Amino acid sequence: MLKDYFNFINKVSVNRLGKWGVILTTSSFLVFVIMELARMVGILTNAYIGLITYLLFPTLFVIGLIMIPISWSQQKKSSGKTTRQLLDEQFNEDETAASFFGSKVVLSIIALTLINVLFLLIASTQMLGFMDEPVFCGTACHSTMHPEWISYQQSPHARVHCVECHVGEGAGALIQSKLNGAYQMLSITFNLYEKPIPTPVHQLRPARETCEKCHWPEKFYGSRIKSYARYQMDEASTPKYTTLSLKIDAGKGKEKAGIHWHIAKENEVRYTSVDDKRLEMIWVEAVRADGSVTRYNNRKLLDSERQENPATRIMDCVDCHNRATHIYEDPSMAIDDRIHKGLIDRTLPYIKKEGLAAISGSYKTKEEGMEGVRKQLEGFYRRNYPALAATQMDKIDDAVETLQSIYNRNIHPGMNIVWGSYPNFIGHRQNSGCFRCHNENMVNDSGQAISYECTTCHSILAQEEDQPFKYLQPPDKKDKTYQMHRYLQNEFLESYSE
Ligand code: HEC
Ligand code: HEC
Ligand code: HEC
Ligand code: HEC
Ligand code: HEC
Repeated sequence: MLKDYFNFINKVSVNRLGKWGVILTTSSFLVFVIMELARMVGILTNAYIGLITYLLFPTLFVIGLIMIPISWSQQKKSSGKTTRQLLDEQFNEDETAASFFGSKVVLSIIALTLINVLFLLIASTQMLGFMDEPVFCGTACHSTMHPEWISYQQSPHARVHCVECHVGEGAGALIQSKLNGAYQMLSITFNLYEKPIPTPVHQLRPARETCEKCHWPEKFYGSRIKSYARYQMDEASTPKYTTLSLKIDAGKGKEKAGIHWHIAKENEVRYTSVDDKRLEMIWVEAVRADGSVTRYNNRKLLDSERQENPATRIMDCVDCHNRATHIYEDPSMAIDDRIHKGLIDRTLPYIKKEGLAAISGSYKTKEEGMEGVRKQLEGFYRRNYPALAATQMDKIDDAVETLQSIYNRNIHPGMNIVWGSYPNFIGHRQNSGCFRCHNENMVNDSGQAISYECTTCHSILAQEEDQPFKYLQPPDKKDKTYQMHRYLQNEFLESYSE
């Protein structure tokens, strides 16, 4: 069989070009199969190798195939012979003799063509599948996608494919994304893209087609307790606790709706903002199940700013969860989180304050930053606590490593990503997030603002207290926070009754 094959191949190559064609086709086919096997067993994992396997080898394979008929037509021209004459010259009579199914040569050509088509089909479906793998999206363009890749791997969506949020379903979405991808390849090659990469407000598929495949509004009900430890800047990095009971209910049309009211099936919130950063709203409308519309205008904006009237956007998941996956941390809260998890030892004096200073420094490159974090922290303990530095270097080392990993995850000088480059819309830090709409300036015709009372969105069970559930304990009449304490306790307990 193999001998027949080589025999055939040999005879097909009529001249030098044909020989090269055959060699190219056969060798790229073999290398493809070997690489693919190596990938399947897990020896090769790199995204570049995947690109080479799926793009380069099938391309070489096709080029080789095309060279064969070209070589035949060259040979026909140079020798002045017809195809028939050439065939007779290359193959013996037995092989070219016509039989009921056609000659052996024709049969071989048909069989090989079928194999080729099959091979190309498999290669291209493998390629499309591979391009959907997060490791391809995250590492094929290397430095460009590096920040997104790092944040993705540490997010709750680390097992969700990039394309499940960024492409969505259907052939239309696929073609659009491939065209978009081709443009991105060009912009990376010629360095045309913005740094940091702007948020894809218009390119993202509607959340109904992506997020809601896995999370849907009916699933949001009741409330969710969230407790944070915040460490102070004192020597002991003393913890203070804040505990919220977040009212995440979608409401199902009832009075008692909560945070997911905006995306419940029967409601719609739409708005226009000054620009695509979506930080400053021009107007916001609430459309309810009965069709009534309430419009809130931003009274701080001048008429001229309002008239520009950019495109209206219907609020969906990513107007709040814009950082569902690419989560960039706040430096202070990142350290709190690591101390809380036991990754940084709180017995190190001033660790919160000094750790924060170390990771907040401005460094020109990643390498300089990583080194700077170490120098700053080690330097502090060597200068101020020499005895401790001599005996507890292992603790300091662990702290340095953890701080470096925080720095590495959040700061990317090559892409101009620093602390706060991408604001997070959940909550209300730095006046963005919920307070973009829930504030005293977004008012309806009767001057009423969208509610911004502290317990609209969450009950407060402790705010910077020394116990996580302080306000659930009996209030002390002598305390100057007595009134507030009692009020918040009642509010929480009542929020659970019908
Ligand atoms: C769970 C959904 C989800 C997954 C999975 C996901 N992304 Fe995103 N991505 C988003 C959202 C949402 C935004 C920001 C949209 C916004 O702010 O409105 C975004 C933004 C981006 C941006 C623009 C920069 C930025 O941070 O705003 C890039 C680039 C990106 N994603 C690449 C990736 C890559 C590469 C992967 C896979 C390794 C991936 N994404 C996986 C949801 C996702
Ligand atoms: C393919 C399924 C899938 C898609 C699509 C998806 N998610 Fe998720 N999401 C998950 C899983 C799984 C988790 C982790 C659940 C857990 O840890 O309990 C998660 C977690 C989350 C969380 C964190 C919940 C928590 O416990 O803190 C949020 C918020 C979230 N998703 C929002 C989104 C948004 C917004 C989108 C669209 C941009 C989206 N998800 C798209 C599957 C998905
Ligand atoms: C008005 C802002 C807002 C919108 C719109 C919104 N969410 Fe949320 N969502 C929140 C807040 C706030 C929380 C609670 C805070 C937290 O868990 O960090 C939350 C919590 C969640 C959780 C965790 C729920 C749990 O049981 O712990 C998931 C999952 C989630 N949202 C997904 C979505 C998806 C999917 C959409 C779109 C269909 C969406 N959210 C729309 C603000 C919003
Ligand atoms: C784009 C504007 C906008 C943003 C951003 C926004 N909201 Fe709202 N929200 C509204 C509007 C409009 C209403 C309805 C006001 C009314 O009653 O007419 C509303 C209502 C609510 C309600 C009350 C639902 C009810 O009727 O009982 C809660 C709770 C809420 N929002 C929480 C949040 C939280 C939490 C965030 C941030 C994560 C947030 N909102 C961000 C526009 C917004
Ligand atoms: C429109 C909804 C909304 C309103 C109004 C609101 N909050 Fe919040 N608040 C949130 C959400 C959402 C979070 C973030 C939860 C998370 O981290 O996932 C939050 C977080 C917080 C936190 C923890 C933040 C941190 O970084 O430690 C505190 C404290 C807090 N709110 C206090 C208040 C107070 C006080 C008011 C009244 C002035 C208020 N909130 C009004 C929605 C709201």
